[in-house]
Amino acid sequence: MVHPNYAKVAEPKSSGIKVVIVGAGFAGLACAIECVRKGHEVLVLEKFREIKSLGHFGSNVGRIFERWGLHDEIWPVCNHLSQLTLHDANGDILTVQHFEELRYGAHNYSGHRGALHEILFNFARTLGIEIRLSQDVTEYDENESEAWVVSNGEKISADLVVGADGVRSKARTLVLGYDDKPKSSGYAVYRAWFDAYEQGVDKDPLTKFMTENGDCFHGWIGPDVHMLTSTARGGRLMSWVITHKDEADIEESWSFPGKMEDVLKVVEGYDPTCRAILSKAPSCVDWKIVYRDPLPTWISKGGRIVLIGDAAHPFLPTSAQGASQAIEDGITLAVALQLAGKENVRLAVQTWEKIRYQRVRKAQLFGEQVRDMWHKKKPEARGEEVEMPSPEWLLGHDSEKHAYEVYETTEKEVRENGYKLPELPAGFERGW
Ligand SMILES: Cc1cc2nc3c(=O)[nH]c(=O)nc-3n(C[C@H](O)[C@H](O)[C@H](O)COP(=O)(O)OP(=O)(O)OC[C@H]3O[C@@H](n4cnc5c(N)ncnc54)[C@H](O)[C@@H]3O)c2cc1C
Ligand SMILES: *[C@@H]1O[C@H](CO)[C@@H](O)[C@H](O)[C@H]1NC(C)=O
Ligand SMILES: *[C@@H]1O[C@H](CO)[C@@H](O)[C@H](O)[C@H]1NC(C)=O
Repeated sequence: MVHPNYAKVAEPKSSGIKVVIVGAGFAGLACAIECVRKGHEVLVLEKFREIKSLGHFGSNVGRIFERWGLHDEIWPVCNHLSQLTLHDANGDILTVQHFEELRYGAHNYSGHRGALHEILFNFARTLGIEIRLSQDVTEYDENESEAWVVSNGEKISADLVVGADGVRSKARTLVLGYDDKPKSSGYAVYRAWFDAYEQGVDKDPLTKFMTENGDCFHGWIGPDVHMLTSTARGGRLMSWVITHKDEADIEESWSFPGKMEDVLKVVEGYDPTCRAILSKAPSCVDWKIVYRDPLPTWISKGGRIVLIGDAAHPFLPTSAQGASQAIEDGITLAVALQLAGKENVRLAVQTWEKIRYQRVRKAQLFGEQVRDMWHKKKPEARGEEVEMPSPEWLLGHDSEKHAYEVYETTEKEVRENGYKLPELPAGFERGW
């Protein structure tokens, strides 16, 4: 059933609210798109830099893409994985996990990050959203009636400024006053994405199974290690990611080219297929996974500047939710602004944070649970015990619908009890 609030306000009519968004990553683009759908006026400022690797969107965000009419465009560039075969370090099969195409009524989309990003970027442009490139935002400020940024020396004002500037967010420091203090999580990932045929994956007897039956998906689990590999575009494009222990200092460099000899050391003594697959990559990236302390709030003192996406809350890759939660932030924010109206922007963002905060924390912890399930696996664990969970609270969620459902009561709580910083749920004391 469609929620009454949705029916009442789903038709876009101009809200008169002007939103400036810093960053055209997944968070910034989705926020811009949904803001326009809700009748707000949007300007996006983007410095531009691109990371090409795998992007995954759970069905919680798949349903949003479908609502935007993007399925036919996105689906062809995604991997179509119907099952995941998990092996132990010796190569013995632990489980074959079957995926249904639709779960909780929507698709999930995994594919090349650059390709997915381009589709969203072009979609935003077709909606008439102004995206200014080569913009470096260096200042943020606000007063009672507006917020503004300084970008390439120019001051640009709005009712609300959204910092969607990613994991190394400048907004986080400038707006909230927190120094970026990444801490080692004790893990790092090597990642690669390459043309399987050019690299001879189809010729090697050990690896050709990855190219012969269309897209496929395999994983190997060893003590404190997991390796996932999949093919896309009918077996043509291959990617792999291997997460392993790494205590190296992350203060200085945190992403750089990986050395193949180091990668292969991780799977010494493993099923020889692992070595065969990993060594096909012409190059790879070494990515230190860092935690950051949870921010007590994502909102500036004056309430007219907010952080969304990785700028507010970085995710572990094992949650497979970083990009999805970044998008949910933007969707929810657009709805909150629409329901609150131009005179109540600060109330809207406080209510938005209250709606989002606990869910984001829970999704972050989920990533840690998945990692521990694999890395600390008991030798005898098999079948469902090692399968990738797809909880309904996470993947069955509809952030747009949910925002319409809970906005009124949440706003009322904020108005009546005054705005309180969100509480960290139990178990979340650990830094992120
Ligand atoms: C290597 C890697 C692999 C990942 N793999 C996955 C995965 O498989 N699945 C998944 O769900 N998540 C994955 N993630 C996480 C996911 O990519 C992020 O959670 C998601 O992209 C966050 O989006 P964002 O828009 O918040 O940040 P970003 O995508 O980082 O976008 C921030 C944007 O802001 C711009 N910007 C920064 N500073 C300024 C400035 N001063 N002025 C103007 N513009 C600025 C940047 O150029 C950038 O375009 C991965 C992340 C990395 C780094
Ligand atoms: C993708 O969706 C399927 C159902 O369509 C689900 O079973 C699977 O767990 C999802 N994959 C991930 C990585 O979430
Ligand atoms: C906020 O700043 C803008 C521009 O700097 C100014 O025009 C406006 O009057 C200020 N509003 C308040 C309430 O101070």
